[in-house]
Amino acid sequence: MTITALDPDFRVDHHLDGDHDHALAEDVLDGLTRPFKELPPKYFYDARGSELFEQICELPEYYPTRAEREILATNAADIVARTGATELVELGSGYATKTRVLLDAMRDAGALERYTAFDVSETTVLACGDQLTREYAGLRFHGVVGDFDRHLDTIPSPDGPRIVAFLGGTIGNFLPGSRRRFLRGLSDLLGPDGYLLLGTDLVKAPDVLEAAYNDSAGVTAAFNRNVLSVVNARLGADFDVDLFEHVAFYDRTREWIEMRLRARAACTVTVPALGLRVAFAAREELRTEISAKFAPARLRDDLAAAGLDLETTYRDRERRFGVSLSRVAR
Ligand code: AVJ
Repeated sequence: MTITALDPDFRVDHHLDGDHDHALAEDVLDGLTRPFKELPPKYFYDARGSELFEQICELPEYYPTRAEREILATNAADIVARTGATELVELGSGYATKTRVLLDAMRDAGALERYTAFDVSETTVLACGDQLTREYAGLRFHGVVGDFDRHLDTIPSPDGPRIVAFLGGTIGNFLPGSRRRFLRGLSDLLGPDGYLLLGTDLVKAPDVLEAAYNDSAGVTAAFNRNVLSVVNARLGADFDVDLFEHVAFYDRTREWIEMRLRARAACTVTVPALGLRVAFAAREELRTEISAKFAPARLRDDLAAAGLDLETTYRDRERRFGVSLSRVAR
């Protein structure tokens, strides 16, 4: 780990040096040798993938970003008043665009002391820290560059009531078992006075859900295929990216969106970095993401299984998306 620490009010810890590629290699080896092939969604987000995701957020069919923005804008003051938070910790903070409304509310309440940003992209963390410390006078910034599957425990302990925010609905990317394990990891960050602020997409009509992941402009399809370009670039693989077609459907039983890439024709892919050759049959599918949708009872049960009490869920006017507050059960 390296620490950029000259100014105690601006600190960034790096946990990814080197082992980032290692994790990708292991995940690809694991995922492509399974009977039902799979790649983890966290590898979507290289520079191009992140840009495509930004575009997804503006698509007419993709409501979650707008709905969550509306919820935060409407309820930020209430969230700050209820929690009494002096620190905001944000996981997958990105450019902290949706965070500002919370930071503003904390500042207006005279409570804002520290912002802790956790993200996989070093450039993003540095740019975000630089920008926010300019915008919010006296703000202490603590950036952590890491992978939230491995480095959650490197987040500093609370020194007052904090909000740990995990927004956007990314909790939906976890399978049910790991979701609960991850929530438990988040509850460990809260301390006795902290709150988890969790964004979750809600169960709703399948056609609305499916449209959000099958946009007419084809941006989600490009985003999905981009994961193959990432594997090509980082592990020297030779996926013929255009041979794979985008598939996204709502699994009504499991209540999640599943994204896959389907080989239009039989092919063989080599991954030199892993000494691996993988055959795809014609129409064989590779799973690239699940995005779980939540009904109120399931959210409550998942939180409870992680030792958390659900206090309240804010919803947008159309009741498409939820942002919930919960705290460690006593
Ligand atoms: C960033 C994980 C919340 O699941 O909706 C958007 C990613 N995938 N379109 C989601 C995504 C396809 C997104 N999350």
